[in-house]
Amino acid sequence: MDVGGGNGTLAKAFADAFPQINFTVFDLPHVIEECDEGIKNLTYVGGDMFKSIPSANAILLKWILHNWNDEECIKILKKCKEAIPSKENGGKVIIIDMVLMDHNPHKGDHKSYETQLSIDMLMMIITSGKQRNQQDWTKLFSNAGFSNYKIISILGLRSIIEVFP
Ligand SMILES: C[S@@+](CC[C@H](N)C(=O)[O-])C[C@H]1O[C@@H](n2cnc3c(N)ncnc32)[C@H](O)[C@@H]1O
Repeated sequence: MDVGGGNGTLAKAFADAFPQINFTVFDLPHVIEECDEGIKNLTYVGGDMFKSIPSANAILLKWILHNWNDEECIKILKKCKEAIPSKENGGKVIIIDMVLMDHNPHKGDHKSYETQLSIDMLMMIITSGKQRNQQDWTKLFSNAGFSNYKIISILGLRSIIEVFP
């Protein structure tokens, strides 16, 4: 389930690539109203992720948590935890977001670091959110009751973070 999945662009690509798996896009009702149904293994559900998220084997949060402050992120993550199975039964939350790198002046990655900081400032100006470093993420996951996580840094400035209940 793609929570905050917008018009379903990503979920449609997944649904096409994996016709044997059922996908859901969950977003605010007025966003879902604008979406075109018609793909057999893709369902659209309207709702509020702060109130309740429908059950799913796995939840994707892509570019969601950087829009919200820590307290709000913990609420969202707790709702995700309620919606997925236990770790033993394969439940997980998959986050695509940024993990702020530590600045290392000897590593020559100034441009990437500057870009991450610019997006951090942008989030602070236009939302209540921010970019988070690994320590910030660890704190969020533990405060939301998750047991473990794994960061996979394969998307340039963004990372995939698998979080386990
Ligand atoms: C920054 S967009 C990210 C969209 C998409 N995941 C992407 O990566 O392009 C944030 C999305 O969260 C949705 N959203 C905001 N508040 C929400 C809420 N309370 N419940 C469900 N979705 C929400 C917005 O409508 C929007 O589609």
